[in-house]
Amino acid sequence: MKIKNIMKIILYCVLDHPYVSVVDINLTTKCNHKCVYCEIGQGLMKKEQIKNETNSLDLEDLKWIIDQMNQCRIPSLVLLGGEPFLFKDVFEVLEYASTYLSDITIITNGMLIPRLSDSQIALLKRTNCKIILSLDSFNPETHNRIRGVETAFENAIHGIKILVENQIPVQIETVISLYNYQDLANVVRNADALGVSSVNFVPIITASNFSGVQAIPHKEELNPKPDHMRFLDDEFNEILKFERDHAIQTNVSDLKRWLQHYITFHAHQAPDSDFFFKYRLQRLICLNLYSRIKINAFGEVQPCNLIPSSITIHDNPNRSLVDVWNISCTQIRTAMKEQKYPEQCHGCYGPHSMNILLSTIKYPFSNRANIPGFLRETIQKLRK
Ligand SMILES: C[S@@+](CC[C@H](N)C(=O)[O-])C[C@H]1O[C@@H](n2cnc3c(N)ncnc32)[C@H](O)[C@@H]1O
Ligand code: SF4
Repeated sequence: MKIKNIMKIILYCVLDHPYVSVVDINLTTKCNHKCVYCEIGQGLMKKEQIKNETNSLDLEDLKWIIDQMNQCRIPSLVLLGGEPFLFKDVFEVLEYASTYLSDITIITNGMLIPRLSDSQIALLKRTNCKIILSLDSFNPETHNRIRGVETAFENAIHGIKILVENQIPVQIETVISLYNYQDLANVVRNADALGVSSVNFVPIITASNFSGVQAIPHKEELNPKPDHMRFLDDEFNEILKFERDHAIQTNVSDLKRWLQHYITFHAHQAPDSDFFFKYRLQRLICLNLYSRIKINAFGEVQPCNLIPSSITIHDNPNRSLVDVWNISCTQIRTAMKEQKYPEQCHGCYGPHSMNILLSTIKYPFSNRANIPGFLRETIQKLRK
């Protein structure tokens, strides 16, 4: 995201005035993986939610959303799911979106990329589509075990090679878990060798990824433990060293600042603990609620993908997408201002990462303990 947009979002959020920069759409709830950390993969989404074609998004809905984005000058569209390449009209959506939008991203497990036709690959290229490919390890057994499918690794790697050969920008997203925490530097080294532009590491979100769907039981136990932090630190230092001499970029310098807090929090979380007070923030404001519209596969417009909404794009065709989204967010924005945080925030890494700066700017007095740290980091960055 451009620095100008980041500044605008911060400004508007502090002033309580939403500024949408991204629309995320779950095209489908179907998937061809069985990931250990995902409710779809673990079969927790009810059958009717997976198969229900009657209230699922269709091409006309998607064209309407894209038209709305065009009218409101929302620049970025992210398509995900489930597995977005299982949505039958994904290429029509891409074609239509590309006439209006310059920034389109698809997040995929890569399974179907080797099966795309030459013309579909050409379309990805012509529409300047970026691909974020989920890859958790360059050890085939580890990746396949996490993803529950024996051919996951070979398809993902084949997919990356096809994308790179065709000069389609590809980034890797790696979920850090108990299974791969000692394997992370290897991801960056191999990704660089394949021509991938960046690797983004995230810990496991322990709330359900899909609102209205029961979370995987004891999901937090899939995150590495505090004892593992020293191994993670070794991996991170190796990655930072590698990054200095190579083209590939990662989010490790940012991650190093907050991952330990997230892992510690999840290791010690008591049901009634209030981490905003015990850990990082005294008062929280969430960037997503002011800058990102989330639409699930049934057309529900959510405040964020973890928080449910019953308002859909179908309810009132005369209402703009941004209006629908503001209605969907009003209650939760108000609750947060009153320091009443939804339980889903406890299972999200957002409060530990991107929201720290924003919350400190918005509530400098309450969050004053964070200010010296930020000043130190800013000075260090300016010196570099
Ligand atoms: C829900 S998936 C949908 C797109 C596609 N099926 C895929 O796996 O890339 C989007 C991203 O979220 C990641 N993800 C899934 N469950 C997660 C969790 N519990 N915590 C953090 N990231 C998760 C996936 O690895 C993937 O990179
Ligand atoms: S993370 Fe993606 S690939 Fe894995 S089960 Fe969930 S939706 Fe499917």
